Amino acid sequence: MNLSLSMLKLAAVVLTIAFIGPLARAADKIPPDRVLIEGHGLRLRLMTPEKQNEPKFDRELTRVLETMTDPETVEQFWQGEVTDEKLEALVTNLESGPMQKDQLQRAFYLVTDTLRDQVLGLVFLSWRDREQKFNFGYAVHPNERGRRIGTKAAQLIKDFVERHHPNEDIVAIVRESNIASRNVLANAGFGLRRSFSDKSLCVYALVR
Ligand SMILES: CC(C)(COP(=O)(O)OP(=O)(O)OC[C@H]1O[C@@H](n2cnc3c(N)ncnc32)[C@H](O)[C@@H]1OP(=O)(O)O)[C@@H](O)C(=O)NCCC(=O)NCCS
Repeated sequence: MNLSLSMLKLAAVVLTIAFIGPLARAADKIPPDRVLIEGHGLRLRLMTPEKQNEPKFDRELTRVLETMTDPETVEQFWQGEVTDEKLEALVTNLESGPMQKDQLQRAFYLVTDTLRDQVLGLVFLSWRDREQKFNFGYAVHPNERGRRIGTKAAQLIKDFVERHHPNEDIVAIVRESNIASRNVLANAGFGLRRSFSDKSLCVYALVR
């Protein structure tokens, strides 16, 4: 009696691992490659691992922190207060590539110029199984704004999706008041899909 109960439990564990385990994992829509895509004079790539090249990692880290703690980025990009924990998680994600959580696959990339490979900003890209959609966002280093970096980075994200997932939807959510970001999306070929005036948010989607 006891033996059959244990066997039943074992069978339940095996079934859970075999069927529910893989179902809980988001589809691998974002590749683990260190360079996601290049073009328009820019490169979207993961951060240099600290263990591999500490001085380069330090230079990149400084630019990442300058970008992500800039008041405009804090207001427009982050949800809520920017804590050390959030920044640490971001850097880990930037170094190690796409992560999986609750059927969500999410990755952060440095935006660098192909000539000098200097950090000009950041982008994030996520895929959510439940909504079957890519979502993306970006922030440009405060000293580099107004040079079309945001527009070209958004074009690169669009190029990646069109090249590798041509049938998938891709959206970006911006505040209504963020004119620069709305111009970036319009320049890169995204159109206004919905407005949530009660939340002062707009959803832009790729115009195909
Ligand atoms: C939004 C942001 C990414 C724009 O990056 P950028 O590289 O400066 O953008 P671009 O040079 O490609 O310019 C895009 C457009 O915005 C306009 N623009 C730039 N700054 C602006 C400002 N302060 N007010 C109004 N328009 C502005 C540019 O004139 C350009 O419009 P145009 O094509 O009609 O000439 C950058 O300002 C930023 O990082 N902001 C903080 C983070 C953020 O808002 N992220 C987006 C939320 S997901």
